[in-house]
Amino acid sequence: MDFSFTEEQLMIQDVARRIAQEKIAPTAEHFDRSGEFPSENIRLMGENGLMGIEVPAEYGGAGLDAVGYVLAMIEIAAADCAHSTIMSVNNTLYCNGLLKHGSEEQKHRYVTPIASGQAIGAYALTEPQSGSDASAMRCRAVLSADGTHYVVNGKKSWITSGPVAKYIMLFAMTDPSKGAKGISAFIVDTEREGFFRGKTEPKLGIRASATCEIEFVDYKIPVEDRIGPEGEGFKIAMSVLDAGRIGIAAQAVGLARAAYEASVAYAKERKSFGQPIGTFQMIQAKIADMKCRLDAATLLTLRAAWAKDQSAKTGARFSTEASVAKLFASETAMFVTHQAVQIHGGMGYSKEMPLERYFRDAKITEIYEGTSEIQRLVIARNETGLR
Ligand code: CAA
Ligand code: FAD
Repeated sequence: MDFSFTEEQLMIQDVARRIAQEKIAPTAEHFDRSGEFPSENIRLMGENGLMGIEVPAEYGGAGLDAVGYVLAMIEIAAADCAHSTIMSVNNTLYCNGLLKHGSEEQKHRYVTPIASGQAIGAYALTEPQSGSDASAMRCRAVLSADGTHYVVNGKKSWITSGPVAKYIMLFAMTDPSKGAKGISAFIVDTEREGFFRGKTEPKLGIRASATCEIEFVDYKIPVEDRIGPEGEGFKIAMSVLDAGRIGIAAQAVGLARAAYEASVAYAKERKSFGQPIGTFQMIQAKIADMKCRLDAATLLTLRAAWAKDQSAKTGARFSTEASVAKLFASETAMFVTHQAVQIHGGMGYSKEMPLERYFRDAKITEIYEGTSEIQRLVIARNETGLR
């Protein structure tokens, strides 16, 4: 087993680390407080290949693999979780989804501007009444009598980058009588008539990542903008989420790493009862538990990325590896940020330090791209074959 990385993987990690430390970390608190969308930082990330890491150069991306993506994602998330959410949806859900399932024409037209960072992509599966039970969606796409376009009506909720996206990968019912097999995937151009955005949601954490409800009222999609065959949309949505969950696992690892490193430094510097708090065994136990979980989460995430890279050659599914990584890493982020606040005492609770932000940001990793309960369901179904 070889734990070393390639030159290209180390290069993208380095690019991400530089931008994270020089541009994102110094502005993270401002964006958390104001809830503004960090357009300039995202533009810079795009110019440096971070918005389409696994996209081949011919479609505007950096042409790296999933391991390289994970390394870069960890660096960005360690500086600010909200930036990494925007990066994750753009890279894995939108770009990789279209790369895997789109036609040649769709890739050139709809991946290139998003992978190169000129515009932002989003992914719309969830609806007000259907989150975990994603196939219970109601948004309808009806084929026109002349067969040239679909007419879409319905709502999608919680759409990350919804307020700013140029293109959105949309899942809608083309045949409700068939349930999950009646769902199809489409590309939405948000500048066309019939597309509406709701208010940006106020949130506990990742406040600079803009999220909103979107609505379609007699919105027309040309048939050429359907992704894959009719009825294949749910499988496309699920396979895209397999890749997306690796990105969220990496995000959780980055966040946990930042909280862990701050805690080690504080344990060495903060004195109580005349000695550094890191000399107390109760603090040492916390540091040891944080370190073990952080390393395990990192390795599970890299294993999932490796499995995804193998899948490009073999076609084998990597759903279990992705869900294991997402579940463990997100619960690790909660555990580590919780312990980190405790190690910092009152300062952990203060907005003068980033610990309280890490703690608020960590919670979302257990909710989006499938809650922890849904990851457990996916893992157990895959392991037992039972439903
Ligand atoms: N790859 C390919 N196909 C898959 C698949 C996968 N990973 N998972 C399931 N399928 C196929 C199944 O094989 C099945 O096909 P057949 O009938 O031909 O066998 C079909 O899809 C339906 O599968 P299920 O019967 O398992 O579907 P279900 O209704 O029981 O739901 C679920 C399964 C795992 C609960 C799924 O609904 C799910 O993942 N829910 C969570 C939704 C979610 O993660 N949403 C995230 C939204 S995006 C987001 O959150 C972004 C962000 O915040 C940043
Ligand atoms: P529900 O499905 O109503 O679940 C409520 C509770 O019940 C949860 O604890 C859940 O785990 C549990 N539960 C449900 N079913 C089961 C079961 N079978 N077994 C055990 N427990 C169960 N969606 C998108 O499509 N695109 C996006 O870009 C996007 N971005 C998001 C950004 C943010 C900040 C947030 C908060 C959400 C985002 N989502 C997005 C939606 C997200 O994926 C859903 O919120 C998530 O999948 C959970 O769905 P729900 O909120 O409807 O909860």
